[in-house]
Amino acid sequence: MSQIQLNQIKSDALKAFTAAVTSQDLYNQKVQFLGKSGALTEAMKMMASLPKEEKPAFGKMVNEVKSELETAYDQAELSLKNQEINSQMLNEKLDLTLPTSSRDPGKEHPVHKVTNEIFGIMARLGYSLRTGPLIEKDYYNFEALNIPPNHPARDMQDTFFVDETHVLRTHTSPIQIHSLENEKPPLRIIGTGSVFRVDSDISHLPNFHQIEGMCVDEKVSMSDLKGTITFFVREFFGPGLKTRFRPSFFPFTEPSAEVDCSCPICKGKGCSLCKQTGWIEIGGCGLINPKVFQFAKVEYPKWQGFAFGFGVERMAIIKYGVDDIRLFPANDVRFLKQF
Ligand code: DAH
Repeated sequence: MSQIQLNQIKSDALKAFTAAVTSQDLYNQKVQFLGKSGALTEAMKMMASLPKEEKPAFGKMVNEVKSELETAYDQAELSLKNQEINSQMLNEKLDLTLPTSSRDPGKEHPVHKVTNEIFGIMARLGYSLRTGPLIEKDYYNFEALNIPPNHPARDMQDTFFVDETHVLRTHTSPIQIHSLENEKPPLRIIGTGSVFRVDSDISHLPNFHQIEGMCVDEKVSMSDLKGTITFFVREFFGPGLKTRFRPSFFPFTEPSAEVDCSCPICKGKGCSLCKQTGWIEIGGCGLINPKVFQFAKVEYPKWQGFAFGFGVERMAIIKYGVDDIRLFPANDVRFLKQF
């Protein structure tokens, strides 16, 4: 093997490397020239048959050609790989506007579903929607609702205090006061939203939802209140459910009552949801205490009224037979999809 032959191998290899159009092609060419039985390797093997004095010079030449070819290969490989990545990127352009093959639009949260259903029912009785701030002045959350500072009734509501004069509202009843202050009777309003209490177990959440109703008119009686709530409960839970009013105490109503409905699961026979009583408590109600009208500067007895407040999660639990209130804020889609 002469230097001329070696140069021939080199120029053949360089040509082959430049001609390769894919990196696989290029690799095949590398095997042809530099692989185990490639042309250059064969040349090296032939060294054995050379006269002793020619071996070092020939060996040096072979090694030079080998390293030149390896460098040429590395460069060619780099440029082919770049070309391949570029063309792959061009071909794989993503059209982000294309619709996906399957779409999961999610579901309305049961708390919203129940709230909206209740609005729907109350709207038919002429009620319209109000909201209020989540951080309330102590005055609106307590005082104007006839719960003076240090009154034991404050213990009924485990309050989160924001500062000395502000609280996270413990109920939606302050919405009544805002409405009485800012609007002119006659009024039929529904207030709703988040409320907060220092309480957390299988049937209590520190942040839950209430729905509040208030009717102010010239002659309002306990039977108007009972009729309204009975209608609402039947519409919401379905016909056949009974309502029951138990005398109770709320500082902002007089007289006051707690509302129970017959258990929709066992139809009043007794089950674990109703703790074997056949009845489930859904909220409080009563005729608006004249002291509340006095705070809000509404003329009494020209204007009289009733009010009620229900827990939204509680209504959902009863309607759907959910056994743990903590499932509502957990937002597990497997739970939410069932409604
Ligand atoms: N605010 C009361 C509570 O959270 C519920 C309530 C009772 C609201 C009587 C009312 C009402 O409007 O008249 O426990």
